Amino acid sequence: MNDPSPTILVIGASGRTGWRICRGLLDRGVPVRGLTHSDDGAGRLSALGVRDVVRADLLDPATLPPAFEGVDHVMLVTRSIGDPTPEINAVGAAVGAGVRRVVKLSSDILYRTWDDVDEHERAQPPNPVAALHGPSEDHIRASGVEHVLLRSTWFAGIDENPLFGPGINAGGLVWPLGSSGLALVHPDDVAETAVHHLLVPEVQEPTLRLTGPREIGAEEIAAGFGALRGSPVEVRPVSFDAYGAWLEAVAGMPRSAARIIEPYAEPPRVPLSDAIERALGRPARTFADYLNEQGGHVPPRS
Ligand SMILES: NC(=O)c1ccc[n+]([C@@H]2O[C@H](COP(=O)([O-])OP(=O)(O)OC[C@H]3O[C@@H](n4cnc5c(N)ncnc54)[C@H](OP(=O)(O)O)[C@@H]3O)[C@@H](O)[C@H]2O)c1
Repeated sequence: MNDPSPTILVIGASGRTGWRICRGLLDRGVPVRGLTHSDDGAGRLSALGVRDVVRADLLDPATLPPAFEGVDHVMLVTRSIGDPTPEINAVGAAVGAGVRRVVKLSSDILYRTWDDVDEHERAQPPNPVAALHGPSEDHIRASGVEHVLLRSTWFAGIDENPLFGPGINAGGLVWPLGSSGLALVHPDDVAETAVHHLLVPEVQEPTLRLTGPREIGAEEIAAGFGALRGSPVEVRPVSFDAYGAWLEAVAGMPRSAARIIEPYAEPPRVPLSDAIERALGRPARTFADYLNEQGGHVPPRS
């Protein structure tokens, strides 16, 4: 007889990735418990068909134990930058409830900003993404819980990302990365890979890099979003200083947010990974696939 499905709790279930993960689990007939701390989130989850919606605030550990009761595997997705406390609280509650496995959505920024830096830099990480994911990953490893850390690179929808979106949406991709590109990954591939690692009986590799199938340069990104929008998007190459000033003036972000993408400008180029193909048994979707699903007409490229 097949083992029954594990009981799965998705944290960040109402967000962009968590919602896709819930959908993927429901499509496979796997019951899902979705955690949210907002009315909006609860509504989104109910509309998706998640029957077991729990309300808890990751910043308030006292609210967490009921959400983790009877849970086998946890999917951990929270915010993108800053304080790791919500994730550390979630891991504490998972371990306290006897959860067997934590699958965490992390960032490939850590290969450059966490793995090889000294204790001094780890104590005060200059990169705000590393400041969240670095301590969170370390906490998961130290907890002894079985885990899969999905270190994803940038999602293909960078027009929705505050670091690039305001430029793309105004017709100019403000680009401080020179000739470096990004190995943009399809968000559905990230979610489907997470579903695979939530359901697979054994963990083979505890840390995985998730990338798209190839690096996409600024010209191709701009042309893709231009085709999608039906109006041209130009590339505006800038220095990191000018990019920080632009983020502050136009995107309403602190200058220091420029640090988030700085690691991608430095050689060596980010290696591509086949972790998505190995999990899903088919190649990772392309940037053109993503654009075409959004209504674009972008021919495939080799
Ligand atoms: N975008 C990229 O290119 C990229 C690339 C690599 C990795 N990532 C990683 O992906 C993650 C973000 O994924 P996403 O875009 O799917 O996130 P998102 O849409 O911003 O959703 C985050 C979720 O976290 C929940 N949350 C936040 N604070 C909470 C709290 N105190 N208690 C309970 N729940 C809380 C929110 O749920 P409620 O409001 O419903 O409570 C929200 O649904 C980040 O860790 C980021 O570093 C992103």
